[in-house]
Amino acid sequence: MSNERKPLIVISGSSSGIGLAMTREMLGRGYAVLGLVRNASIDVVQHPDYRQQQVDMADSNELQSVIAEILKTLADPVRALVNNAGIGRMGYLEQLSVSDLRLVMDTNFLSHAIVTRAFLPLLKRQGYGDIVFIGSEAALSGSRQGSIYCASKFAIRGFAQALREECGKSNVRISLINPGAVRTPFFHDLHFEPGEGEDNAIAPEDVANALAMVLEARPGTVLDEINLSPLNQVWVKSGR
Ligand SMILES: NC(=O)c1ccc[n+]([C@@H]2O[C@H](COP(=O)([O-])OP(=O)(O)OC[C@H]3O[C@@H](n4cnc5c(N)ncnc54)[C@H](OP(=O)(O)O)[C@@H]3O)[C@@H](O)[C@H]2O)c1
Repeated sequence: MSNERKPLIVISGSSSGIGLAMTREMLGRGYAVLGLVRNASIDVVQHPDYRQQQVDMADSNELQSVIAEILKTLADPVRALVNNAGIGRMGYLEQLSVSDLRLVMDTNFLSHAIVTRAFLPLLKRQGYGDIVFIGSEAALSGSRQGSIYCASKFAIRGFAQALREECGKSNVRISLINPGAVRTPFFHDLHFEPGEGEDNAIAPEDVANALAMVLEARPGTVLDEINLSPLNQVWVKSGR
Protein backbone atom coordinates (compact mmCIF):
# COMPACT_ATOMS: atom_id res chain seq x y z
CA MET A 1 0.00 0.00 0.00
CA SER A 2 1.22 3.53 -0.71
CA ASN A 3 1.23 5.97 2.25
CA GLU A 4 -1.55 8.15 0.86
CA ARG A 5 -4.89 7.15 2.44
CA LYS A 6 -7.13 6.38 -0.45
CA PRO A 7 -10.77 5.50 0.07
CA LEU A 8 -10.96 1.75 0.57
CA ILE A 9 -13.22 -0.73 -1.17
CA VAL A 10 -13.57 -4.16 0.43
CA ILE A 11 -14.32 -6.89 -2.12
CA SER A 12 -14.87 -10.54 -1.28
CA GLY A 13 -13.77 -13.10 -3.86
CA SER A 14 -11.24 -10.72 -5.43
CA SER A 15 -9.07 -13.61 -6.65
CA SER A 16 -11.12 -14.53 -9.71
CA GLY A 17 -13.77 -13.65 -12.27
CA ILE A 18 -16.09 -10.76 -11.41
CA GLY A 19 -14.32 -9.94 -8.12
CA LEU A 20 -10.97 -9.72 -9.90
CA ALA A 21 -12.37 -7.50 -12.65
CA MET A 22 -14.02 -5.21 -10.06
CA THR A 23 -10.75 -5.06 -8.11
CA ARG A 24 -8.76 -4.04 -11.19
CA GLU A 25 -11.39 -1.48 -12.21
CA MET A 26 -11.51 0.10 -8.75
CA LEU A 27 -7.69 0.24 -8.47
CA GLY A 28 -7.66 1.90 -11.89
CA ARG A 29 -10.13 4.48 -10.59
CA GLY A 30 -7.83 5.43 -7.70
CA TYR A 31 -9.36 3.45 -4.84
CA ALA A 32 -7.47 1.14 -2.52
CA VAL A 33 -8.87 -2.39 -2.39
CA LEU A 34 -8.87 -4.94 0.41
CA GLY A 35 -9.68 -8.34 -1.05
CA LEU A 36 -11.11 -11.17 1.04
CA VAL A 37 -9.67 -14.33 -0.48
CA ARG A 38 -9.72 -18.03 0.23
CA ASN A 39 -5.97 -18.45 -0.37
CA ALA A 40 -3.73 -15.45 0.29
CA SER A 41 -0.59 -17.25 -0.87
CA ILE A 42 -1.80 -16.55 -4.42
CA ASP A 43 -1.84 -12.88 -5.35
CA VAL A 44 -3.12 -12.33 -8.87
CA VAL A 45 -3.46 -8.55 -8.47
CA GLN A 46 -0.07 -7.15 -7.35
CA HIS A 47 -0.77 -3.45 -7.09
CA PRO A 48 0.56 -1.04 -4.41
CA ASP A 49 -3.00 -0.12 -3.34
CA TYR A 50 -4.20 -3.71 -3.10
CA ARG A 51 -3.93 -5.93 -0.07
CA GLN A 52 -5.70 -9.16 0.72
CA GLN A 53 -6.86 -11.06 3.75
CA GLN A 54 -7.32 -14.79 3.78
CA VAL A 55 -10.63 -16.11 5.07
CA ASP A 56 -12.93 -19.00 4.32
CA MET A 57 -16.21 -17.19 3.70
CA ALA A 58 -18.13 -20.41 4.33
CA ASP A 59 -16.78 -20.74 7.88
CA SER A 60 -18.91 -18.33 9.87
CA ASN A 61 -16.78 -18.49 13.04
CA GLU A 62 -13.52 -17.83 11.21
CA LEU A 63 -15.21 -15.12 9.15
CA GLN A 64 -16.48 -13.26 12.23
CA SER A 65 -13.09 -13.25 13.92
CA VAL A 66 -11.18 -12.24 10.77
CA ILE A 67 -13.58 -9.36 10.08
CA ALA A 68 -13.42 -8.22 13.72
CA GLU A 69 -9.59 -8.11 13.44
CA ILE A 70 -9.80 -6.15 10.17
CA LEU A 71 -12.16 -3.62 11.72
CA LYS A 72 -9.88 -3.15 14.75
CA THR A 73 -6.90 -2.20 12.61
CA LEU A 74 -8.60 -0.37 9.73
CA ALA A 75 -7.22 3.15 9.29
CA ASP A 76 -8.69 4.03 5.89
CA PRO A 77 -12.15 5.43 5.27
CA VAL A 78 -14.32 2.65 3.79
CA ARG A 79 -15.92 3.85 0.59
CA ALA A 80 -17.74 0.59 -0.20
CA LEU A 81 -18.23 -3.04 0.70
CA VAL A 82 -18.78 -5.35 -2.27
CA ASN A 83 -20.24 -8.74 -1.35
CA ASN A 84 -19.27 -10.92 -4.27
CA ALA A 85 -17.78 -14.31 -3.32
CA GLY A 86 -19.96 -17.20 -4.38
CA ILE A 87 -20.16 -20.72 -5.71
CA GLY A 88 -22.55 -22.78 -7.81
CA ARG A 89 -23.86 -26.25 -6.98
CA MET A 90 -26.30 -27.16 -9.72
CA GLY A 91 -28.39 -30.28 -10.21
CA TYR A 92 -31.80 -31.70 -9.36
CA LEU A 93 -32.38 -31.24 -5.65
CA GLU A 94 -32.13 -34.94 -4.82
CA GLN A 95 -28.70 -35.04 -6.49
CA LEU A 96 -27.33 -32.45 -4.07
CA SER A 97 -26.09 -33.46 -0.62
CA VAL A 98 -27.10 -31.66 2.55
CA SER A 99 -23.53 -30.36 2.78
CA ASP A 100 -23.91 -28.90 -0.74
CA LEU A 101 -27.05 -27.08 0.43
CA ARG A 102 -25.30 -25.76 3.51
CA LEU A 103 -22.16 -24.74 1.62
CA VAL A 104 -24.11 -22.73 -0.94
CA MET A 105 -26.19 -20.90 1.67
CA ASP A 106 -23.16 -20.29 3.90
CA THR A 107 -21.01 -18.98 1.03
CA ASN A 108 -23.54 -17.11 -1.08
CA PHE A 109 -25.79 -15.72 1.62
CA LEU A 110 -24.75 -16.08 5.26
CA SER A 111 -21.17 -14.87 4.69
CA HIS A 112 -22.45 -11.64 3.15
CA ALA A 113 -24.95 -11.11 5.97
CA ILE A 114 -22.12 -11.57 8.51
CA VAL A 115 -19.66 -9.24 6.76
CA THR A 116 -22.33 -6.60 6.14
CA ARG A 117 -23.50 -6.74 9.76
CA ALA A 118 -19.92 -6.18 10.91
CA PHE A 119 -19.19 -3.23 8.56
CA LEU A 120 -22.53 -1.46 8.85
CA PRO A 121 -21.88 0.40 12.14
CA LEU A 122 -18.66 1.83 10.68
CA LEU A 123 -20.38 3.01 7.50
CA LYS A 124 -23.24 4.53 9.51
CA ARG A 125 -20.72 6.35 11.75
CA GLN A 126 -18.93 7.69 8.67
CA GLY A 127 -22.28 8.87 7.32
CA TYR A 128 -21.59 7.59 3.81
CA GLY A 129 -20.72 4.42 1.93
CA ASP A 130 -22.08 1.86 -0.48
CA ILE A 131 -22.87 -1.78 0.19
CA VAL A 132 -23.13 -3.65 -3.07
CA PHE A 133 -24.29 -7.24 -3.47
CA ILE A 134 -23.53 -9.35 -6.51
CA GLY A 135 -26.80 -11.22 -6.97
CA SER A 136 -27.69 -12.99 -10.20
CA GLU A 137 -30.47 -13.49 -12.68
CA ALA A 138 -31.07 -16.46 -10.36
CA ALA A 139 -32.21 -13.90 -7.76
CA LEU A 140 -35.10 -12.96 -10.05
CA SER A 141 -36.61 -16.28 -11.06
CA GLY A 142 -36.12 -19.91 -10.15
CA SER A 143 -34.92 -22.37 -12.75
CA ARG A 144 -34.46 -26.11 -13.14
CA GLN A 145 -31.37 -27.57 -11.42
CA GLY A 146 -30.79 -24.29 -9.65
CA SER A 147 -32.86 -24.75 -6.50
CA ILE A 148 -30.30 -24.00 -3.80
CA TYR A 149 -28.33 -21.51 -5.90
CA CYS A 150 -31.55 -19.58 -6.68
CA ALA A 151 -32.56 -19.78 -3.02
CA SER A 152 -29.23 -18.26 -1.95
CA LYS A 153 -29.59 -15.43 -4.47
CA PHE A 154 -33.27 -14.78 -3.63
CA ALA A 155 -32.09 -14.53 -0.02
CA ILE A 156 -29.48 -11.93 -0.96
CA ARG A 157 -32.09 -9.93 -2.85
CA GLY A 158 -34.53 -9.87 0.08
CA PHE A 159 -31.69 -9.02 2.44
CA ALA A 160 -30.55 -6.13 0.22
CA GLN A 161 -34.09 -4.77 -0.16
CA ALA A 162 -34.64 -4.81 3.60
CA LEU A 163 -31.29 -3.12 4.28
CA ARG A 164 -32.08 -0.51 1.65
CA GLU A 165 -35.04 0.52 3.84
CA GLU A 166 -32.95 0.43 7.01
CA CYS A 167 -29.95 2.44 5.83
CA GLY A 168 -31.19 5.44 3.84
CA LYS A 169 -31.42 7.74 6.85
CA SER A 170 -27.75 7.01 7.61
CA ASN A 171 -26.66 7.93 4.07
CA VAL A 172 -25.53 4.38 3.43
CA ARG A 173 -26.63 3.18 0.01
CA ILE A 174 -27.49 -0.43 -0.78
CA SER A 175 -27.39 -1.81 -4.32
CA LEU A 176 -27.82 -5.19 -5.94
CA ILE A 177 -26.25 -6.13 -9.29
CA ASN A 178 -27.84 -9.13 -11.02
CA PRO A 179 -25.74 -10.47 -13.90
CA GLY A 180 -26.85 -13.20 -16.26
CA ALA A 181 -24.15 -15.56 -17.57
CA VAL A 182 -20.68 -14.10 -17.07
CA ARG A 183 -17.67 -15.81 -18.60
CA THR A 184 -15.61 -16.69 -15.49
CA PRO A 185 -14.09 -19.74 -13.76
CA PHE A 186 -17.47 -20.08 -11.96
CA PHE A 187 -18.38 -22.71 -14.59
CA HIS A 188 -15.21 -24.79 -14.15
CA ASP A 189 -16.91 -27.05 -11.60
CA LEU A 190 -20.28 -27.17 -13.36
CA HIS A 191 -21.62 -29.38 -16.16
CA PHE A 192 -22.67 -26.47 -18.36
CA GLU A 193 -21.32 -23.10 -19.46
CA PRO A 194 -22.30 -20.22 -21.74
CA GLY A 195 -21.93 -20.98 -25.43
CA GLU A 196 -18.90 -19.61 -27.24
CA GLY A 197 -19.08 -16.12 -28.70
CA GLU A 198 -19.19 -12.76 -27.03
CA ASP A 199 -22.99 -12.44 -27.32
CA ASN A 200 -23.54 -15.49 -25.12
CA ALA A 201 -21.92 -14.22 -21.95
CA ILE A 202 -21.26 -10.94 -20.19
CA ALA A 203 -17.60 -10.05 -19.62
CA PRO A 204 -16.61 -9.67 -15.94
CA GLU A 205 -15.53 -6.12 -16.85
CA ASP A 206 -19.19 -5.30 -17.67
CA VAL A 207 -20.10 -6.06 -14.06
CA ALA A 208 -17.12 -3.96 -12.91
CA ASN A 209 -18.51 -1.07 -14.98
CA ALA A 210 -21.91 -1.51 -13.32
CA LEU A 211 -20.18 -1.26 -9.93
CA ALA A 212 -18.50 1.98 -11.04
CA MET A 213 -21.93 3.38 -12.03
CA VAL A 214 -23.32 2.49 -8.60
CA LEU A 215 -20.46 4.21 -6.78
CA GLU A 216 -20.45 7.27 -9.00
CA ALA A 217 -24.18 7.96 -8.82
CA ARG A 218 -25.04 11.35 -7.29
CA PRO A 219 -24.93 10.90 -3.47
CA GLY A 220 -28.71 11.41 -3.10
CA THR A 221 -29.49 8.75 -5.71
CA VAL A 222 -29.35 5.00 -5.27
CA LEU A 223 -29.08 2.50 -8.13
CA ASP A 224 -31.19 -0.01 -6.23
CA GLU A 225 -30.90 -2.87 -8.64
CA ILE A 226 -29.11 -3.40 -11.93
CA ASN A 227 -29.91 -6.36 -14.19
CA LEU A 228 -27.57 -7.12 -17.05
CA SER A 229 -27.55 -10.10 -19.36
CA PRO A 230 -25.89 -11.31 -22.55
CA LEU A 231 -27.57 -10.51 -25.83
CA ASN A 232 -28.32 -14.20 -26.36
CA GLN A 233 -28.83 -17.04 -23.91
CA VAL A 234 -27.06 -20.08 -25.32
CA TRP A 235 -25.87 -22.71 -22.84
CA VAL A 236 -23.76 -25.72 -23.73
CA LYS A 237 -22.82 -28.87 -21.82
CA SER A 238 -19.21 -28.63 -20.75
CA GLY A 239 -18.59 -32.34 -20.24
CA ARG A 240 -17.27 -31.78 -16.69
N1 LIG B 1 -20.34 -16.30 -13.64
C1 LIG B 1 -21.64 -16.09 -13.73
O1 LIG B 1 -22.30 -16.44 -14.74
C2 LIG B 1 -22.38 -15.37 -12.64
C3 LIG B 1 -23.66 -14.85 -12.94
C4 LIG B 1 -24.36 -14.18 -11.95
C5 LIG B 1 -23.81 -14.03 -10.70
N2 LIG B 1 -22.58 -14.56 -10.42
C6 LIG B 1 -22.06 -14.37 -9.08
O2 LIG B 1 -20.88 -13.60 -9.13
C7 LIG B 1 -20.08 -13.87 -7.99
C8 LIG B 1 -18.65 -14.12 -8.46
O3 LIG B 1 -18.65 -15.26 -9.30
P1 LIG B 1 -17.64 -15.43 -10.53
O4 LIG B 1 -18.45 -15.69 -11.73
O5 LIG B 1 -16.66 -14.34 -10.54
O6 LIG B 1 -16.98 -16.83 -10.14
P2 LIG B 1 -15.47 -17.22 -9.78
O7 LIG B 1 -14.56 -16.75 -10.87
O8 LIG B 1 -15.52 -18.67 -9.47
O9 LIG B 1 -15.17 -16.36 -8.48
C9 LIG B 1 -15.76 -16.68 -7.24
C10 LIG B 1 -14.95 -16.02 -6.15
O10 LIG B 1 -15.51 -16.37 -4.86
C11 LIG B 1 -14.45 -16.91 -4.05
N3 LIG B 1 -14.93 -17.88 -3.07
C12 LIG B 1 -15.78 -18.91 -3.27
N4 LIG B 1 -15.94 -19.60 -2.14
C13 LIG B 1 -15.17 -19.00 -1.20
C14 LIG B 1 -14.91 -19.24 0.16
N5 LIG B 1 -15.45 -20.26 0.81
N6 LIG B 1 -14.07 -18.40 0.81
C15 LIG B 1 -13.48 -17.36 0.17
N7 LIG B 1 -13.70 -17.07 -1.13
C16 LIG B 1 -14.53 -17.89 -1.79
C17 LIG B 1 -13.52 -17.57 -5.04
O11 LIG B 1 -12.28 -17.83 -4.45
P3 LIG B 1 -11.27 -18.91 -5.12
O12 LIG B 1 -10.60 -18.18 -6.26
O13 LIG B 1 -10.36 -19.28 -4.01
O14 LIG B 1 -12.12 -20.06 -5.58
C18 LIG B 1 -13.50 -16.51 -6.14
O15 LIG B 1 -12.65 -15.45 -5.80
C19 LIG B 1 -20.73 -15.06 -7.29
O16 LIG B 1 -21.50 -14.60 -6.20
C20 LIG B 1 -21.65 -15.64 -8.36
O17 LIG B 1 -22.76 -16.29 -7.79
C21 LIG B 1 -21.84 -15.20 -11.37
